[in-house]
Amino acid sequence: MLSPTLRTTLNIMSTIRTQMNLAAANRLSTVHRHLSTTSQVNKIEKLTVFGAGLMGAGIAQVGAQSGLKVILSDVTDKALENGLNIISKSLSRVAKKKSPDDIEGFTSNILKNIETTTDAAKAVQDSDLVIEAIIESIKVKRDLFGFLDEKAKAECIFASNTSSLSVKEIAESCSNDRQARFAGLHFFNPVPAMKLVEIIKTPQTSTETFEALKEVTLRMNKSPVSCNDTPGFIVNRLLVPYLLEAIRMVERGDATPEDIDTAMELGAGYPMGPFKLLDFVGLDTTSYIAQGWREKAQSGEISKELVEPIGLLDKLVKEGKLGRKSGQGFYEYDNKK
Ligand SMILES: NC(=O)c1ccc[n+]([C@@H]2O[C@H](COP(=O)([O-])OP(=O)(O)OC[C@H]3O[C@@H](n4cnc5c(N)ncnc54)[C@H](O)[C@@H]3O)[C@@H](O)[C@H]2O)c1
Repeated sequence: MLSPTLRTTLNIMSTIRTQMNLAAANRLSTVHRHLSTTSQVNKIEKLTVFGAGLMGAGIAQVGAQSGLKVILSDVTDKALENGLNIISKSLSRVAKKKSPDDIEGFTSNILKNIETTTDAAKAVQDSDLVIEAIIESIKVKRDLFGFLDEKAKAECIFASNTSSLSVKEIAESCSNDRQARFAGLHFFNPVPAMKLVEIIKTPQTSTETFEALKEVTLRMNKSPVSCNDTPGFIVNRLLVPYLLEAIRMVERGDATPEDIDTAMELGAGYPMGPFKLLDFVGLDTTSYIAQGWREKAQSGEISKELVEPIGLLDKLVKEGKLGRKSGQGFYEYDNKK
C-alpha cells in the first residue's frame, strides 16, 4: 500500500512528466514547422527569367528545351522581341543538327514553352524558380528581388546570374525565409553551348534549395558545380587574374599578344589564348570586374596585387577598343562580314 503522501508525490511527478512531454512535443513541432517553412521547395516545373538580353534569352531557351514552362520578362516589349529573336536564331542552329528535316517544327515546338510579359508581378505569381539575368547593378537587382519577394509563392526559389556581385548582398533585399531559398546560378556565355553552371551558396542558402537547383540544371543538360559566395566564384576568380597578367606582359614588352596566344594554345593546351578571349569577353567587362574587385581588395576578400590597375587596359577601353563587339581590341575584326 502506498502512503497518501507518496501517492500525491507520484501524481505530481506524473503530471510534471506529462507537461514536460507536451512542452517538448510543442517545441519539436515549432522546430519542424520552422524547418518546413524555411526549407520546403517544390519540384521545379515553372521557370521565370528576368532580362531578355544575351544571358536571359539563353537561359529561357535551355529551360524551354528541357521541358520547363518558361516566362521571360523584361521592361519593354522591344527587349522581349530582341530576346525571342536571339532564341529563334539559336534554336534554328540547334535544329539544323538535331532535326534537319523539320527545322520549323523543332523550333516552334520549343518556342511554345515560352511566354513573355513586361508585368513582373504576373511573371512570378505561379513560378517555382526565378532566375534573374538583368543589368549588373546591385541596386537594380535588389529593387527587383525586393518587389518579387512579395509577389512570388513562399516556396519559389530565387537565383541571380550575377558574375561579379555578392549573392548574399542581393539576397538581403528579401525576407529571411526567401534568403534560405536564394542562391547564385551562374551560367556561361553562350548559354546553349556552355555546359557549366556555378551554383553559389550564401551562408543562408538551404540544402534543399541547393539540391533543387542542382537537379534542375542537370535537367537542362548542364554540369553544375558548387561554390561559396566569394569574388569571381570559381571560373572568374582564376581566369580574370590570368587575363590581367597577360596584359601586363604585353605592357612590359615581354611578348606580343599573338605570341602569348600561340604559347597558351600550343603549350598549355588552352582552346583560346588570353587575348582572343579578352576580345571575345569585351575589354570593358574585364576592366569593370577588376575595378569591382579593387574595392573588395580593401576588405581583404581578394589580394590587392592581382587587380592593380593596368594603363594599357584603361587606355584601350577609353579609346573604345573593346574587342570583337567594337571591331577592335587586341586584334582587329571585320564585323560587316
Ligand atoms: N554577358 C556575359 O558573358 C555574362 C556571363 C555570365 C553572367 N552574366 C550576367 O548576366 C546578367 C545579364 O547579362 P547580359 O549580358 O545578358 O546583359 P544584357 O545587357 O544583354 O541584358 C540585360 C537585359 O536586362 C533587362 N533589364 C534591365 N533591368 C531590368 C528589370 N528591372 N527587369 C527586367 N529586365 C531588366 C534589359 O532591358 C536587358 O534586356 C548580368 O548580371 C551579367 O553580369 C553575363
